[in-house]
Amino acid sequence: MKRTVDQINVRGKRALVRLDLNVPLDDAGMITDDRRIRAALPTVKKLLADGGRLILMSHLGRPDEEPEQKHKYTLAPVAKRLSELLGKAVPLLPDCVGPDVTARVARLRDGEVVLLENLRFHEAETVKDKKAAEKPKLREQKDAFARQLADLADVYVNDAFGTCHRDNASMFTVPQIMVGKPRVVGYLVQRELKFLGETVSNPKRPFVCVLGGAKVSDKLGVIHSLLAKCDTILIGGAMAYTFLAADGMGVGKSLVEPDLYDTARQLRAEAGPKLRLPVDSIVASEIKNGVATAVCTDSIPSDKMGLDIGPLTIKTYAEVVRTARTIVWNGPMGVFEVPPFEQGTIAMAQAMADATRSGAITIVGGGDSAAAMDKAGLAERVTHISTGGGAALEFLEGKPFAAIDVLDDAD
Ligand code: 3PG
Ligand code: MG
Repeated sequence: MKRTVDQINVRGKRALVRLDLNVPLDDAGMITDDRRIRAALPTVKKLLADGGRLILMSHLGRPDEEPEQKHKYTLAPVAKRLSELLGKAVPLLPDCVGPDVTARVARLRDGEVVLLENLRFHEAETVKDKKAAEKPKLREQKDAFARQLADLADVYVNDAFGTCHRDNASMFTVPQIMVGKPRVVGYLVQRELKFLGETVSNPKRPFVCVLGGAKVSDKLGVIHSLLAKCDTILIGGAMAYTFLAADGMGVGKSLVEPDLYDTARQLRAEAGPKLRLPVDSIVASEIKNGVATAVCTDSIPSDKMGLDIGPLTIKTYAEVVRTARTIVWNGPMGVFEVPPFEQGTIAMAQAMADATRSGAITIVGGGDSAAAMDKAGLAERVTHISTGGGAALEFLEGKPFAAIDVLDDAD
């Protein structure tokens, strides 16, 4: 158990609070889903109620991969939304480190809050420790950057569950440097660890996992570790076609990962009947609203691709979910953003809500599945929606989180 914000009082102290405010934005820079911002509020409110001086920090997107488009990744829309939700001014500082930031932070008064600009505007933030171990220059850069952040505060709070699988400077190096000062988890991290942790360590059975999304490669690790723990794994989304193609079925133009055919076959052999694949698909020649669709129960014609699970699969998967006592769902069943291909995902959302009503523990992980719960108007009807995509998967896989391990243990 880790020390939490409830075990400290930050009155008069400068608290550096790492949040995951990495929210999706549309082309106009408007936030399309503010779930992560809302999920951060309880911790921020607690620290403000203490009378702390809050320095909030987060990344947004991957500006390091698009340096010429950097301006698109400003946290300005996030600062605006955060101040609306808090009912309090949250000034965005022009950078996350540097003399101006240090000076502004020094002027913070009790109960005031600022947000640092996108941490990933500095390349040092995302340098991986493994890489830094081979390149002393990178190590120095990462440490120097982390030290500037660490020097801003007396207390470190990690409430960035969605980023806990990263060894980013703000996630791991900063708290490492702040040894001796309080380093705690916030309410969101605490809640995520509780729900995800309890679910996999002591599930009520049947324990069913529903996995979807585009790529098998993203889910290999989690399939492996969940096979040992759960009773049934239902596979949907484009990743199903890699399994089906590996079996020799014609999948037309469906998205597949041929490099993984061998692995897919091995996994199926290992899993036996535990791992279930779709028995029918909704197919079309392109991903477009209004395009002609057909149900395909056999090989998919060469000019078509599978874009959603079909009606028979929906029926059997929904039944398995409805009669389970613990369900973890990660990844959509089809291209649910485009209406003709949303039915499998919406049906899964409905089955999750039905299972919750019957007393099952239902956990949804990943931005897409969470968005689907919202789209179906059922987000409030599951036990827990994780704010983590990759983080939730890695946690379920049983990977250790260095960013959590480095924090103080509870007394
Ligand atoms: C996420 O959305 O996955 C987290 O915010 C972490 O972002 P990353 O995958 O770009 O590191
Ligand atoms: Mg990610």
